Amino acid sequence: RSLSEAMGRPAKAIMSIMFKEFGEMVTINQIIEEDVALAVAMELGVDLTFKRQRGALESVTEIIEQEDAPEDLVTRPPIITVLGHVDHGKTTLVDTLRKSNVKVVEGEAGGITQHIAAYQIEYNGHKLTFVDTPGHAAFSEMRSRGANVTDMVVLVVAADDGVMPQTAESISHVKASGVPMVVALNKIDLPDINEQKVMQELASQNVLPSEWGGETDVVRVSALKEMGLDNLLETLLLTAELHELKANPNRPAVGACLEGFRDEGRGSVAWLIVQKGTLRIGDAVICGKSYGYIRAMYDDTDQQIEEAPPSTPVKVTGLDSVPGAGDHFVVVETIDQARELAEERRHEGRADTLARHSGGPRTLEDILG
Ligand code: GTP
Ligand code: MG
Repeated sequence: RSLSEAMGRPAKAIMSIMFKEFGEMVTINQIIEEDVALAVAMELGVDLTFKRQRGALESVTEIIEQEDAPEDLVTRPPIITVLGHVDHGKTTLVDTLRKSNVKVVEGEAGGITQHIAAYQIEYNGHKLTFVDTPGHAAFSEMRSRGANVTDMVVLVVAADDGVMPQTAESISHVKASGVPMVVALNKIDLPDINEQKVMQELASQNVLPSEWGGETDVVRVSALKEMGLDNLLETLLLTAELHELKANPNRPAVGACLEGFRDEGRGSVAWLIVQKGTLRIGDAVICGKSYGYIRAMYDDTDQQIEEAPPSTPVKVTGLDSVPGAGDHFVVVETIDQARELAEERRHEGRADTLARHSGGPRTLEDILG
């Protein structure tokens, strides 16, 4: 539509060229790449130049960084990412904390977490949001993605296994990002475990337990047998309190996408976590290179909800495509604005991808910086 307006030629002419030259049936709302637009213009004998007033990234960053007045800030639940080696009990821990009947672990293929997932629980009137991540070596990027939105980390270390490769990798993520960390020494129900050995291993990773005079709280728990969980939650809430986590709920929502997927019935579904503001049904959203109105919103038990305040994980439908994990989302005033930003980002995205390919693997520092 914008191309047709810019060229002063009917949209039908563009559609017909798109079909003949590119074999693509496009609609008036579809976004086409810059070089495709140029080729179409050439076919129609129109000289097309691209003018950009402001980079999409720039305007989105502006909304994200918009300062809130101190009096508008309200305490929000901590977003806690659960990290640790494969099978050390991360999902069991989150599942037990949810105390729901949803058996998360049993539903997983082979019990190995393949996706990132976020849940909110309430303890003594305080809400806490947990982000469960896979421990397998192959999911390194997913762990850094989780760490990206996080206020603090629970590092799960199985007492019978101790510090393993992905424990060490998680520790270096946490150190690089500077977020506070609490160690959950899990599986203490097992016989013949050597706690002191695990403490020693942690210390050799420069994680000195507070009982050894260090700065890291190590809480002994059994996720399976429900031991030590009050202690863990209290330690987490205390840490949250120390860091005075606040957000303004009365502003356009911004946050991050943890996971995007296509659902048979619902179309493109994005698992978002709201960081500032309140997300509502009907909001015009840009998320990475996707955009749309929030059509429906579901909480972590798949119940439909109308709005999501800061630190809430939600699944939303209504985006035109599946956003990428780690993409930021921003609520904008109009759907046209969202579409324009998405269009620009699709162009910028190509430059991004190129830069990424030449720049080697993305690290957590890259994402946080
Ligand atoms: P990945 O998602 O694959 O990284 O694993 P995970 O860390 O989520 O581990 P998960 O919760 O799937 O647990 C792995 C196994 O450890 C399961 O068989 C759990 O039942 C068991 N487990 C978890 N917590 C405890 C515990 O406190 N005690 C004992 N004895 N077993 C536990
Ligand atoms: Mg798991």
